[in-house]
Amino acid sequence: MELSPRGTKMGGLSGIRTIMEDIGIAASDSSGGTWLNLSPGNPADISEVTDTWRGLQQEALAARFPEVSGRYGPSRGSEGLVDAIVRYFNRRYGWSITPRNVLVGTGCQMLAFMATTIFTGTYPDGPRHLVLPSVPDYTGYQGLNLEAGGIVGVAPGVEHLEGRLFRYTFDLEAVRRQPSMGMMLLSSPGNPTGRSIEPDALAGLIQIAEERDVPLFIDHAYGDPFPSVAQDLVEPPLHPNVINGFTLSKAGLPGERIGFVIGPEEAVDVLVSFTANSHLHAPQLIQATVERALNTGVIDTLTTEVVKPYYRRKRLVAEKLLHEILPDSVDWRLHSTEGGMFCWLWIDHDWFDDLEMYEALKRKKVFVVPGRHFFVPPFDSPFLAEHATRCMRLSLSPDESVLAEGIRRFAEALEEMRAAR
Ligand SMILES: Cc1ncc(COP(=O)(O)O)c(C=O)c1O
Repeated sequence: MELSPRGTKMGGLSGIRTIMEDIGIAASDSSGGTWLNLSPGNPADISEVTDTWRGLQQEALAARFPEVSGRYGPSRGSEGLVDAIVRYFNRRYGWSITPRNVLVGTGCQMLAFMATTIFTGTYPDGPRHLVLPSVPDYTGYQGLNLEAGGIVGVAPGVEHLEGRLFRYTFDLEAVRRQPSMGMMLLSSPGNPTGRSIEPDALAGLIQIAEERDVPLFIDHAYGDPFPSVAQDLVEPPLHPNVINGFTLSKAGLPGERIGFVIGPEEAVDVLVSFTANSHLHAPQLIQATVERALNTGVIDTLTTEVVKPYYRRKRLVAEKLLHEILPDSVDWRLHSTEGGMFCWLWIDHDWFDDLEMYEALKRKKVFVVPGRHFFVPPFDSPFLAEHATRCMRLSLSPDESVLAEGIRRFAEALEEMRAAR
């Protein structure tokens, strides 16, 4: 059977999915020794989080199973959950949104995919691209577009901060110069960098969205209000050109595939129809569970008292380990953080190659994510051509002992790679 061009595009595995296959193979490796996985996008396994969701899910199951699992429901999301979202956000941010501003979906990735499909592709006046206004950004975005070459990543600026820290900045003029733009998309706090978009850059992107009459999709997977793994919180902006994406994945429910968007009515209405046409609606037992978490305020206790402090502590631990273990003589740098669940490292040497490091670490039974998967090829700016292959992402979710031993093996591999050149 011959695949269509879209079939070929969507049937291919992006770089990071290949890594997940490698991890699957490692799980059945019987050669001895312990594999250390410093790559997971999964949130950490925190017992308070698991217990809280288990309790809420059991209550929903006991009270509402026939009503929610035994019947189809509305494509926008169950009335109870949509109302709970409206009340929660209006109370928290002083907004006055209504159910028409909300769509519940099967996670933020799917919601971003639907928005990309609606706002990018071939228009009568030519192609309109999905623009990532500052790469690196979440590698999952590279699978969102149905057409090959439909995604453009804009190169960032770089600020060198004190010590080994650095920070990417937005090059708003480069974003503005993009010739064909259907939608902009970014994560904040970002995966992999941990950067939260600052108010000036946000205002600049919103202005570009207005000028081009396109949506800016902001993915708050790690941000406010939950899981709230962010230090300097920038409130989600309510604006006619902004679609805000939220998920419960990083607050402990990645396997349940539940998230929602809040945005302008016209855009949300189209996304509701897309939902009806493609998969009718999101699963409803988990919607009933999340409705309880919002109405009771449990979600806030969970995020502010458990998840947020957990990741703040893990980040401090990881920074300390990196400083203690990585060789002083290697020019390694760490992206400053305002949140998120990762450390983003830049090894600024011409002997360093992220894919070679990935293979070298695999030989030492460690998984990390090579940096290039977070940039959008082709790497055609002189900065990206060099930089995109010199970065690695480490996850903060593994246990401290795994982090420490993984970083130790990484240091060893760095020394070996340098010696071999
Ligand atoms: C920035 C970002 N957005 C979205 C997702 C996926 O979210 P969901 O599980 O809601 O589809 C991830 C998962 O790693 C992510 O890092």
